[in-house]
Amino acid sequence: MKIGFFDSGLGGLTIMKAVAAMLPQFDYAYYGDTANLPYGDKPEEEIYRLTLEGVKYLFEQDCLLVIIACNTASAETARRIQNEFLSDNYPERKVLGIVVPTIEMMKYTTPTTVALIATKRTVESNKYLNELETSNNVMVSLTQIAAPELVPLIEMGEIEAASSQAINRIEAEAGESEVVVLGCSHYTQIKTALREHFGESIIILSQDEIIPDKLSNYLDRHQEISEKLTGEGARTVHLTEHRPDYDHQMGVFLGGVFMAD
Ligand code: DGL
Repeated sequence: MKIGFFDSGLGGLTIMKAVAAMLPQFDYAYYGDTANLPYGDKPEEEIYRLTLEGVKYLFEQDCLLVIIACNTASAETARRIQNEFLSDNYPERKVLGIVVPTIEMMKYTTPTTVALIATKRTVESNKYLNELETSNNVMVSLTQIAAPELVPLIEMGEIEAASSQAINRIEAEAGESEVVVLGCSHYTQIKTALREHFGESIIILSQDEIIPDKLSNYLDRHQEISEKLTGEGARTVHLTEHRPDYDHQMGVFLGGVFMAD
């Protein structure tokens, strides 16, 4: 069986790419809901319905485990899918969100001031704030920056424009934050520009560098899952809407030439 990745668009491809590089012994399937992007300003119920559709699709493709690589969807749906859908329909399968592992990694850096830059919906859900408050021994002050303008730019390949807008927002709103969490799968594309700009003054956390280790660790602890996973690093991509320029974009996100099914 395979590992599935769900995202509202192409952003999560960078996370799948990083996971497949670390765990090449498995096969991967990706579902990008490009027809409904962006999720960042949709109501919670709609995000739940759309995410569930994607998860069901990935289960039909023989995915045993689905990572919701979209922070907006993770924040609004991961726990609800686990509690309300999996136990009745797919008790053997797993759906994992991306927010909790990101917070675990953040705790490693032991900051006292952190800025989260994410979509409007992720910020409004207060998921990062709530998870931080319930995690043990962490005294962190979190500044949340909603930057809905970045996703459409990144999805169109306008990386320079997105990076400079992100830099402006961070400079204006992140105060003295020691760490900036890029809390949106699309922002993996701007991490290099941000690191070049901020140098050592701010630690930039990017989820394509967090999730592979966390997943590998999870699979080590859950042999009942890892022993059912098979493959040899094959990757398939399903997009709910396929614009001609997406083939080029997928090449940029995944590396090399890539065509969606
Ligand atoms: N990639 C999604 C995330 O990680 C957001 C993009 C969108 O607004 O659809 O939050």
